Amino acid sequence: ALAVTEHQAESATISQGLAESNHAGYTGTGFVNYDNATGSYVEFTVGAASSGPATLTFRYANGTTVNRPMAVTVNGGTAVSVAFPGTGAWSTWRTATASVTLPAGTNRIRATATTSTGGPNLDRLTVDTGTVGVGRPA
Ligand code: GCU
Repeated sequence: ALAVTEHQAESATISQGLAESNHAGYTGTGFVNYDNATGSYVEFTVGAASSGPATLTFRYANGTTVNRPMAVTVNGGTAVSVAFPGTGAWSTWRTATASVTLPAGTNRIRATATTSTGGPNLDRLTVDTGTVGVGRPA
């Protein structure tokens, strides 16, 4: 079976940011407006049935022309830098991806702003752990 789960940012743990809904096109009930501050983050709790590679897809908007990179960590481990370039408008949503390894069990996936402009507006995280049973135990 395919193992794809969706996680709304507005339902995740938010540090230095606010759940808002004043720009159209989000999924769920809104998105997270990161504070314009280094270190602001959204942390998702994501279960994995077995350990292995996963693709993280972040749906976001960045109405500026300047990249707002974030550090993505799994359970506080080594950070992967992910670029969130401008999308043209705060109501135009695009995706950015990262490849990680997820251990089996409950995981904390955190996206932390690494510049003083903060993160983009973050709509949701989709986690794809591939087809269980193909190169990955069921
Ligand atoms: C604008 C926009 C917000 C956005 C902010 C930012 O104020 O309306 O949704 O979060 O810019 O720069 O992060």
